Amino acid sequence: MVDIKKVAINTGGGDAPGLNAVIRGATISAIGLGWEVYGIRQGYTGILEMSEEEGIIRLDSNRVRGITHLGGTILGTTNKGNPFEWPVKEGDKVVAKDRSDELLEKFNKLGFDALIAIGGDGSLGIANRLAKKGLPVVGVPKTIDNDLASTVVTFGFDTAVTNATDAIDKIHTTAESHQRVMVLEVMGRYAGWIALNSGVSGSADVVLIPEIPYDIGKVCEKVRQRDEIGRHFTIVVVAEGATPRGGTMSTLGEKQVGREVKLGGIGDRLAHEIEERTGKEARSLVLGHLQRGGSPTTFDRLLSLRFGSAAVRTLNEGKTGVMVALNPPRVDCVPLDQAVSKMKSVQMDSDTLLTGRYLGICFGD
Ligand code: F6P
Repeated sequence: MVDIKKVAINTGGGDAPGLNAVIRGATISAIGLGWEVYGIRQGYTGILEMSEEEGIIRLDSNRVRGITHLGGTILGTTNKGNPFEWPVKEGDKVVAKDRSDELLEKFNKLGFDALIAIGGDGSLGIANRLAKKGLPVVGVPKTIDNDLASTVVTFGFDTAVTNATDAIDKIHTTAESHQRVMVLEVMGRYAGWIALNSGVSGSADVVLIPEIPYDIGKVCEKVRQRDEIGRHFTIVVVAEGATPRGGTMSTLGEKQVGREVKLGGIGDRLAHEIEERTGKEARSLVLGHLQRGGSPTTFDRLLSLRFGSAAVRTLNEGKTGVMVALNPPRVDCVPLDQAVSKMKSVQMDSDTLLTGRYLGICFGD
C-alpha cells in the first residue's frame, strides 16, 4: 500500500484530444484528497533532461482551470522519450541508452509517491516496465487509434472519428462535382478503427484497413461498378497502415532510435494506381494531425475526466501497476501487464465491419 502525499502526472506519445481533461480530472480529485500534484514536461524529458524548475510544474486548481475543452496537453508530450531506449549521440551516430534507473532515482529524489502515466501502447508499455522496477504507477489509456485491448474505448478516438467523418462529408461534394475518385488517408498504424468507423458513418465506398490486406483489382472493380450505375465518383478511406496483399506498409524515411517508423504515402499510392487502372481522375488527401487537433468531443471530455478521477481513486485504494479501463457502466482497472499484452484490432466478425459489408462497402477483399 502506497501512502500518497505527492503524485506526478505525465503525458507520452502522440497527443490525443482529452489529455487536458484527464489532467484536470486527476488533479482536482487528488487535491481533494489532500495530495500535492505535479506535471512532468514532455513525457519523461522533464525529469531526465531539464532542471526541476523547468521540467516539473506544480498543478493546482488554478493551473488546470478552463482546460477540459482544450486539445493538446498543457504538459507537452513526445514520442521520442522512451527511458529504456533514450536516443544519445555518440560521434555521428545516435544510439539507444537505458536511462530507466536514473529516471527512478530522480523520481524518488523529487519526493513523488506515484505516477499517473497517460499514454497509448508504447507509453503504457514503458510504464509497465517502470512498474516492474518498483515505480508505483497507474496508466490511463489514450490513443486516437483505439488499439488498446482491455478497455472498451480509449479517449481521443471519438474525436478523431468525428473529425474524419466530417472530412468524408466534405470530400463527398467535391468528388461528386468533379466525378473523381477521392482517397482519404487517415491514421491507424496497426488497427483500422478510425477508417472503419468514419468510413461506415460517412458512407465511403471503399474502406481499407491494416487487418485486411487489399487487392487493388477489387478496389478498381468497385470504382468501375459505380461508374456503370451512374455513380461517377468514389470515396476511398484508407488507414495509414493498410497494405496491399503481399505488400508492405508505406513509410516515410528510416526508423529512428527510440521511436516508431513514420507512416505515410498509402493514399497517394492508391490514387495513382486507381487512376492508372481505371482511367478515372483520382486525388488523395492526408487528414493527418487534423484528426487529433482541436477540442475533444463531449464523449471524450467526459471519458477523460472519468479516467483522470478514476486513476486517483485507484491509487487511493492502494492499487498500482494497473490501467484504468472503461467497462460500461463502470471505469475499472486492469493489470498493466494484461493491458499491453495484446492489441485490439478489428475482428472479422466485428459488427461494424459486417454492417459496412452489408451496406455494400468494399474492404478490398
Ligand atoms: O498512435 C497514434 C498515431 O496517431 C498513429 O496512428 C500515427 O502513426 C502516429 O500517431 C503519428 O504520430 P506522429 O505524427 O506524432 O509521429
